[in-house]
Amino acid sequence: MDIYDEKDGEAVNPSTGPGIGDLISRRTMLKGMAAGGAFGLFGCGTMGAGAGPSTGGDGSAPLAFSEIGRTTDDKAYVPPGYNLQVLLRQGDPIRPGAPEYHPTQQTGADQERQFGTDCDFISYMPLPLGSSNSTRGLLGVNHENHRAQICFPSVTSKTQLTQQQVEVQIAAQGFSIVEIAKEGNQWRVVKDSRYNRRISGNAPMRIAGPAAGSPRMRTSTDPTGTRSFGTLNNCAGGTTPWGTMLTAEENIQNYFSGNAAAGAEAGARKRYNITGKPRYADWARYQDRWNLDKEPNEANRFGWIVEIDPYDPNHTSVKRTALGRAAHECATHAVSHDGRVAIYSGDDARMEYVYKFVTEGRFDPSNREANRDLLDRGTLYVARFEANGKMRWLPLVHGQGPLTAANGFNSQADVVIEARRAGDLVGATPMDRPEDVQPHPLTGRVYVVMTFNEQRRPDQVNPANPRPNNKFGHIVEIVPPLVGGKPDHTATECDWGFFFLGGNPTDPSHGARYSGPVSANGWVAAPDNVAFDPKGRIWISTDGQDDAAGFNDSLYGACVSGPQRGVTRAFFNGPAGCEVCGPEFTPDGKTLFVSIQHPGDGSSYDKPSTRWPDFRPDLPPRGSVIAITRNDGGDIGG
Ligand code: FEO
Ligand code: CA
Ligand code: CA
Repeated sequence: MDIYDEKDGEAVNPSTGPGIGDLISRRTMLKGMAAGGAFGLFGCGTMGAGAGPSTGGDGSAPLAFSEIGRTTDDKAYVPPGYNLQVLLRQGDPIRPGAPEYHPTQQTGADQERQFGTDCDFISYMPLPLGSSNSTRGLLGVNHENHRAQICFPSVTSKTQLTQQQVEVQIAAQGFSIVEIAKEGNQWRVVKDSRYNRRISGNAPMRIAGPAAGSPRMRTSTDPTGTRSFGTLNNCAGGTTPWGTMLTAEENIQNYFSGNAAAGAEAGARKRYNITGKPRYADWARYQDRWNLDKEPNEANRFGWIVEIDPYDPNHTSVKRTALGRAAHECATHAVSHDGRVAIYSGDDARMEYVYKFVTEGRFDPSNREANRDLLDRGTLYVARFEANGKMRWLPLVHGQGPLTAANGFNSQADVVIEARRAGDLVGATPMDRPEDVQPHPLTGRVYVVMTFNEQRRPDQVNPANPRPNNKFGHIVEIVPPLVGGKPDHTATECDWGFFFLGGNPTDPSHGARYSGPVSANGWVAAPDNVAFDPKGRIWISTDGQDDAAGFNDSLYGACVSGPQRGVTRAFFNGPAGCEVCGPEFTPDGKTLFVSIQHPGDGSSYDKPSTRWPDFRPDLPPRGSVIAITRNDGGDIGG
């Protein structure tokens, strides 16, 4: 079987305009295939632990489900023959003794023991550690935001929140770990599990890597610059091969009040859009650390990738500063040909960059403890896409190129704290809001999802972001070189092309391009998160299809190779107002978990546009994790 069965003639070099490039030669890819199975085993195998499908397929198996139609109502839809179960709702008690959700009486202490709000990234890690158990495991879930107007009664955009409400907001964000078990075709929460915990906006954190101890990381409560509290705005994430989870702190500009233009950090704040007039404007009324005038460095302690060990309930989560500071969307891994580990991440803002971190040390599959601090030493890179189908990973290393004291970088701490400015200086490519960046577990090709950028002007297009007013988003595919038949994720030069340019291909004004005929229901707008099933097919969730195209956000499946490569098919629609995010498969491919974030967004507690998923008059709409299975117990997607 030839999995790379695209015709060479179909490849379109970006230098000649946007196209669906398959920019690696057929011969090279065939060579890669020979050793691909070994890579899949190495990258995803022995530790089990949510590192990806354990038997990575090539992604060519045709999808066999009936596509669903577009919807705009307040229901969720799966294809015929599939079952949808709401597994975890905002406010569900997960810690011993936690009260049931009560939206008008909730306290911060309650929320610290309940499932958080605005669920996003999901990681399933089997129990026990090292197994590939698909019926019992730990679900790690991000909680990105708390929306006061839809969670609390009588709140408008002008309402000053009470201290109790602010404490709920801080406790509602961050991360949840919940043990779950499957009986028959139904999942349940294991309520008394010792693993269940919240890692909220209050949780103690250790700061590690180049920025640890920097004077710019010190505050009045932490004169060492090595201990902080809380993780916030947790959007997407990833895992490590040693069975830990990574959560990405995204829009950190939402939290800090005060005179952002004053003091030594003014320039750095500006580059991170920290204006002093945040979305969570009331937090600084009650806690000094959100006040830039009182704690000028607290904002430097957010915007990192945080490593969480779900298997150790006593583990203190670690901010891995070597991976750089950004509005991180994600942090996904690949084990390279030589055992070094690459972590890929997008910085989700208009005209921001794509990053890769490569560890100095090698992953040891036989000794979990030996991998503990692999993410503290290595090289951070930023992506530059060229018009000739090549892309380069440019090192962000203090002392190299422009990253010197002459430009205000006195150490690697300065480089990682101001990774965006470092990327500016080395000439990184400004992207259309890079969200998930995820390596395929078998082929090593890296899928970089640009959600949309309606603000890109015609004079700002570049080879990897070819459309001005990009309303529909697109996916770039980076192809690392092969060494000994295995993808080299440490490489500084790779090939690249487009997987697709989103939008409706039958409407010329969209400028959409796909590899093959997508249906009227199958074209994509505003792609955000991706996941690979055990057969290696890609699944793409959207955030903003309602604004871009007028129908609810969705989840699509597509092959990544073979005749159906890049032909997206509609699998799931969420209820109105939600974004669909965090897709994650169990290792057997028989359950697909999905986050339904902020259903009813744009409405209020008092007049909600939906009460999904409970449809009870006393409950607002609640962000929830759902589990999708097949009624006959078969593989998702067929
Ligand atoms: Fe939180 Fe980048 O979506
Ligand atoms: Ca996202
Ligand atoms: Ca998004």
